[in-house]
Amino acid sequence: MSEPLIQLFNLSKKYSVGEVFVEALRGISLVINRGEWVAIVGASGSGKSTLLHLMGLLDSPSAGRYLLDSHDATGLSNDARATIRNKKIGFVLQNANLLARHTAIENVELPLIYDGVSAKLRRERATAALTTVGLAHRFDHWPQQLSGGEQQRVALARALVNNPTLILADEPTGALDSRTGGEIIALLQHLHRMGHTIIMVTHDPNVAQHATRILSIGDGQLVSDEVVAETMNGTARDTQRVTDESRVSQ
Ligand SMILES: Nc1ncnc2c1ncn2[C@@H]1O[C@H](COP(=O)(O)OP(=O)(O)O)[C@@H](O)[C@H]1O
Ligand SMILES: [Mg+2]
Repeated sequence: MSEPLIQLFNLSKKYSVGEVFVEALRGISLVINRGEWVAIVGASGSGKSTLLHLMGLLDSPSAGRYLLDSHDATGLSNDARATIRNKKIGFVLQNANLLARHTAIENVELPLIYDGVSAKLRRERATAALTTVGLAHRFDHWPQQLSGGEQQRVALARALVNNPTLILADEPTGALDSRTGGEIIALLQHLHRMGHTIIMVTHDPNVAQHATRILSIGDGQLVSDEVVAETMNGTARDTQRVTDESRVSQ
């Protein structure tokens, strides 16, 4: 049965820049169910990141209503938003943004420190997350000793370590070459199969095709909402499965 995770009702966002307002989102309404993998596409400046930030409780809408997991998340304080974010949402951005003076596993443990998790449990959960992304052999490496793709996998592990309901990714392959980007997509496929809900912004149609649904945004509005054909998706998944499993068992 489909269960709504995200419900947006006529959501708008205006930014004020000096004397003028920029209308970044203009009345977006949509429902995303648990277990979906949604790609958000659209031209630069169309409002993709703004939409992702609102869904991820990094910012508040100017108008409209947002239900996350059936709870009203529209008018929450910064603190309340941060608390829900830490519990339910994992973010991946274009750049991994790892702390240079911390090892891979310490970077992954960070969100758990904010949550007050004990050192022992932190290590266990970070170990599991790094193993999921195929980096079990890189725990004690420094960020600068890792390739761009490996750094992004550490960022993905950091996003996963809280076992979030929702994974949000803004151009997760944008800074990577196509082969390394493909590895990140294969990992997202793996996470989707494990049951995670994923929402990913991308400007690359080839990347978007791996999702199960594509939302197209133009000038702050929803332009199209299409379900990706099962066959395309299934084929892509079948070819990636072997790679995934070999990586996870490393
Ligand atoms: N913090 C901000 N302050 C002012 N304007 C912003 C801000 N963030 C985004 N915008 C503007 O809102 C519009 C949508 O931006 P954004 O959501 O980043 O688009 P996209 O991710 O699709 O490139 C753009 O016109 C952008 O310049
Ligand atoms: Mg953007």
